Amino acid sequence: MSYKRKDLLGMIDLSSEEITYLLDTAQTFCEINERDVKKVPTLKGRTVINLFFEPSTRTRTSFEIAGKRLSADTVNFSASSSSTTKGETLIDTVKNMEYMHSDVFVVRHAYSGSVKFISENTDASVINAGDGLNEHPTQALLDLLTIRQHKGDIKGLEIAIIGDITHSRVARSDIWAMKKLGANVRLFGPPTMLPKYIEPFGCRKCATMEEAVEGADVVMMLRVQRERQGKLLLPSTREYAKFFGLTNQKLNLAKEDAIVMHPGPINRGVELMSNVADCSRSVILPQVSNGVAVRMAALYLLGLKKGGQSENTAEKL
Ligand code: CP
Repeated sequence: MSYKRKDLLGMIDLSSEEITYLLDTAQTFCEINERDVKKVPTLKGRTVINLFFEPSTRTRTSFEIAGKRLSADTVNFSASSSSTTKGETLIDTVKNMEYMHSDVFVVRHAYSGSVKFISENTDASVINAGDGLNEHPTQALLDLLTIRQHKGDIKGLEIAIIGDITHSRVARSDIWAMKKLGANVRLFGPPTMLPKYIEPFGCRKCATMEEAVEGADVVMMLRVQRERQGKLLLPSTREYAKFFGLTNQKLNLAKEDAIVMHPGPINRGVELMSNVADCSRSVILPQVSNGVAVRMAALYLLGLKKGGQSENTAEKL
């Protein structure tokens, strides 16, 4: 098995074999991240440009770290200090960077579909670092890697995703990937933040928080994405916390060895109480560590496209 695509745009496109291959490759990079010297020469001479048109802490930093650990030349582009403020189009921006002989673009953008549009207009490889409401595939991969490390096989797991599902690209990527790997996914959130049509996703819609959490192996909490909501969709933060926030009491309905996940950034005291975020069942910070490994895997598999990638990652490293 190898990853033959030019780009990594979304989990909806990938087969279960491709997802598993990406996860296996990422697992080999976890070992490198434990070393004293966390650097390999794999992408020496390659150029990775992080094109972020939206704010980010985890994704941008971990892509930069990932590129550097693979010895790529990593450049961070910030939209606010670029010539896009003078009216330059998205494609002109990308084409100019392509003609600087860049190999990989990592792109975050507020508009769904924008990253695919870029990929269709460049010969460089493109990784989606989050496009609007659409997808955030490397977040799904790091979530799956974390679940696999704690629970083994994804198949048959009961996974609850709770919160603002409608406006979450993380939820969308997670759901596609989890279903492809055979998990049972339940969704719960305020009616104003649940997609109208859940059935096509193959998920169970829960009527209460208790129903969503009961017997779950994984409880994944989501932030209210105010920046993507056209109008205010909840009466008050306090009310949201009461009905949709995860407390220890609610978590006790999950399986004894259930894990708590959150993609970050957390709004403490809203969707997740602080004592739950920091409890022994929380794997939120291990998710962040796995983010570096997953992004190393993605850059490795796409960054070597022009030079040919090894069929055996461990052998190459
Ligand atoms: N999970 C995530 O995408 O975090 P950032 O917005 O900080 O990158």
